[in-house]
Amino acid sequence: MKIIKASDYNDMSQKAADILAEIVQTKPDLVMGLATGSSPIGLYKCLIEKYNQKLIDFSKAKSINLDEYRGLSGDHNQSYRYFMNINFFDHVNINTGNTHVPNGLGDDPEKNISDYNTIIEKLGGIDVQILGMGHNGHIGFNEPADFFTKKTHLVNLQESTILANSVYFEKEEDMPRQAYTLGIQNIMYAKKIILIVSGKAKADILKTALTGHITPRVPGSILQLHSDVIVVADVDAMSSLI
Ligand code: F6R
Repeated sequence: MKIIKASDYNDMSQKAADILAEIVQTKPDLVMGLATGSSPIGLYKCLIEKYNQKLIDFSKAKSINLDEYRGLSGDHNQSYRYFMNINFFDHVNINTGNTHVPNGLGDDPEKNISDYNTIIEKLGGIDVQILGMGHNGHIGFNEPADFFTKKTHLVNLQESTILANSVYFEKEEDMPRQAYTLGIQNIMYAKKIILIVSGKAKADILKTALTGHITPRVPGSILQLHSDVIVVADVDAMSSLI
């Protein structure tokens, strides 16, 4: 595991973007595993800047997003498809048909799940996975549990996640209580993982995940077993590690 210390959120975003841009330049038809949330917004901004400066070309790139709320359509302003469109896809030359986010709609979750797993298999897996980490150590929406999950599945979101994410909804009760997420196995099969973490509020969980026991109670702790993880964290997020 390589740990890169950034001075602040912007520096973290720039450093992560530099790493990802280099990979895209080397393998333009790569499969990017992408995340939503506050952590990668700066990274997407930096990638858009690089695209505008003609330093990066996404025309052959494909993407698989980590997760989507159950019950939200892609044009709902809190859906992760919408988030990806407005924060990244709409601003670069990626072919929308090559971007994948789980389908949050429909009353057959099993179909959504198997469709998504089929897409991942057809693409040959993920080359580089961008990850943020939840306050409870979740990666994707793999919440603390008794076992590590395998492939895409439907999860019941935990109270701490509902609390953290409901601020983006008009009313707390508008926030979906379930989400589709890649499983831990999908994430661990990514060839390379870039974990970005910012802020004091994540300092303790980052330390626990990187240096504590490997346990499904702290889903991110599994990353200790991956052979190619780069953690880009700012000084605040690293403050418990030092
Ligand atoms: C988002 C995702 C989540 C977030 C995590 C951190 O697609 O899968 O695991 O990465 O909840 O969220 P932020 O970045 O908002 O602190």
